[in-house]
Amino acid sequence: MSSMTRLETFVNLGYTHDPFKKPVRFETGDMVRCRRILTMAVNSRAMVSIVGERGCGKTEAVDSALKGMSVPMQIIRVQRDAQEKLTIDDIKTALITGLSEEDVRRGGIASHAQLRRVLGASATQKTAQGSEHQIVVVIEEAQRIHSNTLRSLKTLREIEWCGQRELCTIVLVAQSDPMNRAGVSEVRLRSDLVRMQGLSANEAAHYVREIIGTHFDDAAVETLAELSAARNYLELQALCINLLNIALADGREQVSVEDVRAIATPAAQPVPRAAARTKPAAPAPATSALKSVLERRTATAAPTDGRAEAC
Ligand SMILES: Nc1ncnc2c1ncn2[C@@H]1O[C@H](COP(=O)(O)OP(=O)(O)OP(=O)(O)O)[C@@H](O)[C@H]1O
Ligand SMILES: [Mg+2]
Repeated sequence: MSSMTRLETFVNLGYTHDPFKKPVRFETGDMVRCRRILTMAVNSRAMVSIVGERGCGKTEAVDSALKGMSVPMQIIRVQRDAQEKLTIDDIKTALITGLSEEDVRRGGIASHAQLRRVLGASATQKTAQGSEHQIVVVIEEAQRIHSNTLRSLKTLREIEWCGQRELCTIVLVAQSDPMNRAGVSEVRLRSDLVRMQGLSANEAAHYVREIIGTHFDDAAVETLAELSAARNYLELQALCINLLNIALADGREQVSVEDVRAIATPAAQPVPRAAARTKPAAPAPATSALKSVLERRTATAAPTDGRAEAC
């Protein structure tokens, strides 16, 4: 296996920038679902967790959904260097400083009264057209938040101003369900959960073709897109780079379907073409997962969106 780094691989292919860092967002099923549910959550001032494995596109989907909403909105992001240490006071501070120019008052009662006034005034503002001003609190890495902080979110939502409660929307973004633990049932029962499905095979194939398609032949893209690692952007990127390394080490700038089959078989190392020419190699044994994919492809020409294999 080549020891080339990600950036070295792209330099060797003639790129001046990492092509996976292009500022383009693909419209996937997850993005559409996330947008619809977050729109509903914001309009209803609900609490919702967006859950999916590392690198499946949660942050991108939440950012894109919130930026695309036409309602007047203020997004308050709450993040600490260590999310385990995030407390309800950090969330209150983020709200007060994000929604006003005021310094946070000292003392529990004073700061609570200040939060109530600042949050209440902001949440009850209306535009000239009568639309309500929405406040959306986004908490990333929420799987790491302490149960006490999660439980306190209930108190935050119970703050009342001019007869109104639930003055803001809370979006928890997490790699695993933050509510799936003991002692948080009172918040779990008041919140909703969206589980990201990851990329479908069609979406993964589209992503590879659009970003780096000139370096993959068609069959390679199709086969790659069916692998379980292709359900996740970051794993798919790593897989593509690994395959490009293998092709480059063999003197090629294009990945073939054989390269993909070889990499899908952990026991089999890719056979360089030069060696293969002198001593024809037996076809690499496919893993059972890959075999079933290949068998399915020959058995039916109908496209599959790979959702059944989603994480
Ligand atoms: N819709 C999209 N279009 C194009 N690229 C995307 C899209 N969504 C995600 N990506 C790519 O995948 C990478 C990881 O996405 P993102 O940071 O949203 O994942 P995540 O699920 O929030 O991961 P983590 O759990 O580690 O925070 C992004 O940096 C980007 O390169
Ligand atoms: Mg993220």
